[in-house]
Amino acid sequence: MKLFDVYPLYDVTPVSAKGIEVLDDKGQKYLDFYGGHAVISIGHSHPHYVERLKAQLDHIGFYSNSIKNPLQNELATKIGELSNCGDYNLFMCNSGAEANENALKMASFHTGKSKVIAFNNAFHGRTSAAVATTDNPKINAPINKQQEVTFLAFEDFDGLEKALQSGEYCAVILEAIQGVGGLDEPSSAFYQHIAKTCKTYGAMLIADEVQSGFGRSGYFFAFQHHTSTSPGIRPDIISIAKGMGNGFPVGGVLIHESIEASYGLLGTTFGGNHLACAATMAVLEVLEKENLMENAVLLGAYFLEKAKEVQQVKKVKGRGLMLGLEFDFAVSDLRKRLIHNQYMFTGGSANKNLLRFLPALNITKDNINVFFEALKAELV
Ligand SMILES: Cc1ncc(COP(=O)(O)O)c(C=O)c1O
Repeated sequence: MKLFDVYPLYDVTPVSAKGIEVLDDKGQKYLDFYGGHAVISIGHSHPHYVERLKAQLDHIGFYSNSIKNPLQNELATKIGELSNCGDYNLFMCNSGAEANENALKMASFHTGKSKVIAFNNAFHGRTSAAVATTDNPKINAPINKQQEVTFLAFEDFDGLEKALQSGEYCAVILEAIQGVGGLDEPSSAFYQHIAKTCKTYGAMLIADEVQSGFGRSGYFFAFQHHTSTSPGIRPDIISIAKGMGNGFPVGGVLIHESIEASYGLLGTTFGGNHLACAATMAVLEVLEKENLMENAVLLGAYFLEKAKEVQQVKKVKGRGLMLGLEFDFAVSDLRKRLIHNQYMFTGGSANKNLLRFLPALNITKDNINVFFEALKAELV
């Protein structure tokens, strides 16, 4: 049997990794400034993470959601504490798409409605409702097109209000910082408008924090950058995944406690298993112990300073360590040269001119210096 050939591959075969260093099968060392699509949040094979997962496996790795699993309760409490979202309840699943699928489903159950508002350039995953709210016709199969989704531009205050006035929408879903789309953000005024208009017309606000959550933007959740202005934003549902497991496949939805659960409403075989809980607890413990949200803020600011030294950079986008450098040329060649000449992984996006920088949250100033030296070398 061969593999179903859907991934264009770089010719690199990693065999081990530690922190931001990745070693390939030929003994070549690479620096990972991409974290495998923003997944590696505390560094590859962090000792605490490895220890916790091994210890868990020595006890019990998996049982289904038909038994008690106190690790899930501990995890919910810890996420609530670190995110300042203790007034939400946690449902665990296995990926970002599944998190959004369940978020949209909950919004529809709760309101009895089915239409959704999403935004231009959004990426919410590849499953049924999640892919329908993703702004990419190429990955929407005919079977996904049954969903009724209205795409709006960020800052379309009137369009949003007009659509929600119809009373037909169950949800508005958005990324506070778009990942795959290229790091665009709504203004605080627009995010506030979405929150207020959703409340007025009875639609659920879904914050997709799959990529921007778990501290990457400098706050636990990126929507929290918009809560300093009154009134504070409290999404009805928050979806999480990626950095949550530092590579272990785990996702979840935080559902505001005002939304009631009932037996059987949501469910999954693997979601919330013992290993997934241990992986996520390890990530949270390291985030807290190593002050990684503070590090994301400080190093994000340092990255901004260093970027000013590179005249070809037209704009720096993003927050914390969810960053991108915009050029006036397509970056695909530059990314290849960074891999093959400088041995560094970086990311692309729907915006062809944007080089994405999504490292582990415990990188250092020295790592950023090395990145910029390599970038300058490739830009001469
Ligand atoms: C914001 C956002 N939501 C959802 C997803 C889908 O996550 P997954 O690939 O784990 O299904 C992604 C993946 O890139 C994402 O960036």
